[in-house]
Amino acid sequence: MTRSRKEKLEAKDIHVAFGGVRALSGVNLTLHAGDILGLIGPNGAGKTTMVNVLTGFQKPSPGTVIVDGEDISALSARKVAQFGIGRSFQSARLFRGLTVAENLVAAGLGVGLSRKGAAAQAQEILSWIGYRQGLDRGCDSLPYSDERRISIARALALQPSFVLLDEPASGMNDQECEQLMETIVNIPQRFGCGVMLIEHNMQVIMGVCHRIHVLDGGKSLAEGSPEEIRKDPNVLRAYLGTEASKKDAII
Ligand SMILES: Nc1ncnc2c1ncn2[C@@H]1O[C@H](COP(=O)(O)OP(=O)(O)OP(=O)(O)O)[C@@H](O)[C@H]1O
Ligand SMILES: [Mg+2]
Repeated sequence: MTRSRKEKLEAKDIHVAFGGVRALSGVNLTLHAGDILGLIGPNGAGKTTMVNVLTGFQKPSPGTVIVDGEDISALSARKVAQFGIGRSFQSARLFRGLTVAENLVAAGLGVGLSRKGAAAQAQEILSWIGYRQGLDRGCDSLPYSDERRISIARALALQPSFVLLDEPASGMNDQECEQLMETIVNIPQRFGCGVMLIEHNMQVIMGVCHRIHVLDGGKSLAEGSPEEIRKDPNVLRAYLGTEASKKDAII
C-alpha cells in the first residue's frame, strides 16, 4: 500500500459532551505537515479529548475533522490510523503480550508493509529514537522512559502524515526530557509529518513548538508563537488560576 502524504489536518467547530460535562465547545485548530503544534491547557481542559477526536476514538457532535479537504469524521480509529494519523497515549498502552519489536511490526503490517519490511522499519525507528536495549524484550517489564519512547516509535511506524503525542514527557527526568525534545524536534524532517504535542512541561513545549494552541475548560483561549503565548494575559490568568505544578508554570 502506498499512501499519499497529507498536508493539512483541520478540526472544525468541535464539540464533545460527556453527559453534563462539556469537554470541548467549538474548538478549531489546524496542523500542517512539517509543523510542531503544542496543545496546552490546565488539567481537564480537553486536550486528550481533542486527540481522541482527531484520531477517531471519539466522535464529535457536532464537529468535523478534515484532512486535505476530505471529511474523515466518520472513520473508525483503525481507519484513521491507516489514513495517516498516528498517536501515542497519555498512558503508554503498548501491546503487553508482544515484544518491543513486535509492537512496531504490528503497526507496519497494519499499513501494508511485508513482515520483512515491517521488521526492518521497526529496527530502524527504534535505533533512531535511541532505544538500545533488546528488541525481543517483553513490553511488560520496561523502564518507564523506554516505554514512553517506544510508544512514540510505534506511532511513527504507522508512517503517519501527522503524529499526535499525548504527554510523552510525563514522569521523565530532566535528562530524559532533553533527549525527548531532540527527538521531537527532528520528527518533521525525518518522517515528513506534522507533530501535535500535548505537554504540561512548559520547557519542553516552549523548546520545541513552532506554534501553541491553548485550551481552557473546553474552549480555545489563544493560539500563537511560544513568545506570544508566554505573554498572553488570558493564558497567564488561566494558568495562575490553577494549582499549576512548577513545571506547568508558563513564566
Ligand atoms: N470518557 C469520559 N467520560 C466522562 N467525562 C470525561 C471522559 N473523558 C474526559 N472527560 C471529561 O472531559 C473533560 C476533558 O478531559 P480531557 O481528558 O480531555 O482533559 P485533558 O486536558 O487531557 O486533561 P489532563 O491534562 O488532566 O490530561 C474533563 O472534565 C474530563 O473529566
Ligand atoms: Mg489528557
